[in-house]
Amino acid sequence: MAKLMKIRKAIILAGGSGTRLRPLTLATNKHLLPLYDKPVIYHAIEKLVEAGISRIMVVTSPDHIDSFVRTLGSGQHWKPRNTDESQIQIAYGIQNEPGGIAQGLYIARDYVGDEPCILFLGDNYFEDDLSAHIRDFTEGAMVFLKKVPDPHRFGIATLGKEGEVLSIEEKPKKPKSDLAVAGIYLYDNTVFEKMRDQKPSARGEYEITYVNNKYIKEGKLRATHLKKKWSDIGTIDSLIDVSHHIKKKHDRHKK
Ligand code: TTP
Repeated sequence: MAKLMKIRKAIILAGGSGTRLRPLTLATNKHLLPLYDKPVIYHAIEKLVEAGISRIMVVTSPDHIDSFVRTLGSGQHWKPRNTDESQIQIAYGIQNEPGGIAQGLYIARDYVGDEPCILFLGDNYFEDDLSAHIRDFTEGAMVFLKKVPDPHRFGIATLGKEGEVLSIEEKPKKPKSDLAVAGIYLYDNTVFEKMRDQKPSARGEYEITYVNNKYIKEGKLRATHLKKKWSDIGTIDSLIDVSHHIKKKHDRHKK
């Protein structure tokens, strides 16, 4: 049986340009906007804390780092759950320019060290519980897939007969499937060496799809399907849609 790898650390990417949410993102960072009753990034932190993660690095731009420190502090607003650690610790990394998701993750290289880690795109909202996947993680990487109506907007996975991932294409013009790769990834400690020779893509970004395709070549990328709600909140319609969804959940609980 493959050896279990204990994941203790997560990286939340909270940089980017947020152009689709202008002018809101001229006022503040996308991940600090309200998602129903909390800043967007609170939902990501709570998802990770629920899954037993207590060490989180938030990577953002120099313009917004002070707002994040003011909003999240050292992690004192959250209590550890499902872990022996005594406190939640939030650390910070700075991405000088929005040069892509793989570049954002690379900033956390020394923080992660020789451990496996979770990469969480801070503008993703999802409801599946990550705990079992984190507990059962072994070498390689894991991505989470969800059917979408507009595949040209996402990294799209093609699956083989056994459900294995054959390839991932970033924002394809002619998508081969409608299975989007969600913005949560589990990586073993080889993730940083996979970026060593990476060059920016045609759109000038260090793509995470490049890293995932390296795992595919090694036969070490596993995929699982998200069963519950997943959305990014990168457009005004999705931000409002997810806010309404959370409100409905709250209202149901109150009854
Ligand atoms: P995107 O939604 O792809 O990009 P964006 O946030 O710049 O928005 P827009 O397309 O409207 O301009 O980013 C996905 C997530 O990754 C989001 O949480 C921001 C984060 N991100 C970084 O932290 N650094 C980066 O360099 C990029 C490209 C994204």
